[in-house]
Amino acid sequence: MMDLPKDFVWGVSTSAYQIEGAAAADGRGPSIWDTRCRTAGGVVNGDTGDVACDHYHRYAEDVALMRQLGVDAYRFSVAWPRVLPRGRGEVNQPGLDFYDRLIDTVLEAGIEPWLCVYHWDLPQALQDRGGWANRDCAGWYADYAALLARRYGDRVKRWITFNEFSVFTLFGYAIPWAAPGITDRDQHLRAIHHVNLAHGAGVDAIRALVSGASIGAVHNRQRVLPEGGRPENAEAAALLDEHWNLTFCDPQLLGHYPPRVARAIEPYVKAGDMARISRPMDWFGLNHYGPIFARANPDTTWGYGWGDAPPDSPTYGVGWAVFPDAFRDELLEITRRYRLPIVITENGCGGSDSPDESGAIDDQHRINYLQLYNASMHEAIRGGADVRGYFVWSLLDNFEWGSGYGNRFGIVHVDFESQKRTPKASARWYADLIKRARSAA
Ligand code: FCB
Repeated sequence: MMDLPKDFVWGVSTSAYQIEGAAAADGRGPSIWDTRCRTAGGVVNGDTGDVACDHYHRYAEDVALMRQLGVDAYRFSVAWPRVLPRGRGEVNQPGLDFYDRLIDTVLEAGIEPWLCVYHWDLPQALQDRGGWANRDCAGWYADYAALLARRYGDRVKRWITFNEFSVFTLFGYAIPWAAPGITDRDQHLRAIHHVNLAHGAGVDAIRALVSGASIGAVHNRQRVLPEGGRPENAEAAALLDEHWNLTFCDPQLLGHYPPRVARAIEPYVKAGDMARISRPMDWFGLNHYGPIFARANPDTTWGYGWGDAPPDSPTYGVGWAVFPDAFRDELLEITRRYRLPIVITENGCGGSDSPDESGAIDDQHRINYLQLYNASMHEAIRGGADVRGYFVWSLLDNFEWGSGYGNRFGIVHVDFESQKRTPKASARWYADLIKRARSAA
């Protein structure tokens, strides 16, 4: 514990569509995820975010849970269609009021709000105009970010432009695992570039409107390995690595695209774009779970598909591979390559946790995972990685995108019938870890 920097931030993360529910309440408009949930085969079981954790109505109880945990910070996202039901133009006051109440309650609990502007729930009205494949979307996003900055900037100082750029562009536009479920190289490339432009414009808007803003972007980075270490999967892994790990970090922080993407994206890049994209940032947000494996597959949009982890590799709950050393290496690599302080904005473990006869949830598998990954974070810090904070994904079991409600990531269990919240063993473990870290500081 002694190696943590002073003022290290311990937090929990959530996102709007995954927890809020109240999908039709108080003037909220539809998002691409509402559409996805109503598309056959879009989500396991036909699950939807209509009710989710009903956090829209139960936020005070959820903030009380965070207070019990003793976290310093809460990372949440705003639902764009709740505040701008059609994505632009007319503002929805009750939607804006909800986030006022939430932010005030979080602050009253002595917790710092970290606001993420975009966590995947694009208003459907903007998708109807081409979504991120339309260059205008960068401007619509910047106007939306400015609306939030003006309204909440007096109380919120920690801002995140986007969550996991590469996941929602890749799975939304090339591999159809997420909304809007398109498979098209050209639209994927356009979406990449326009999201990068939106990021830059969002940073400028927030910087101009929020005094003392500390701005980051959240990137998912995990090592990409060729399945089976086989040479025929090497090019698949190299291209997926660019799409997954470099296509957003490099232009935003180094001012250029990685080589394969640079060649393909050229037709969409206009003079001055790289300067618009690479704006000064205060910190690097990292979401990390485990490594991924690539397999050559000529039938897919880009000629690669998801491969399997080596059969003998350790896995947890949902079958994702556990490689804590890769987490340490990633933290060191980010410090070396981008030279920014790092905040781990998501790390956690899914499973199908259910209560025992006494109602307790003993998620030892999650505690094991979190312990291993925390130990790797400490190793990275000792090795020179500049890590300033750690957020668990997630506070609550929630709507896990295409996997619906079957895949539980919460340290607090949610009974989706009764909406009852029950802290799991991992919640007690995390609260204790935070206490010990504070007393060692
Ligand atoms: C990340 C997402 C988050 C959640 C976790 C499990 O990719 O940012 O919303 O789904 O994975």
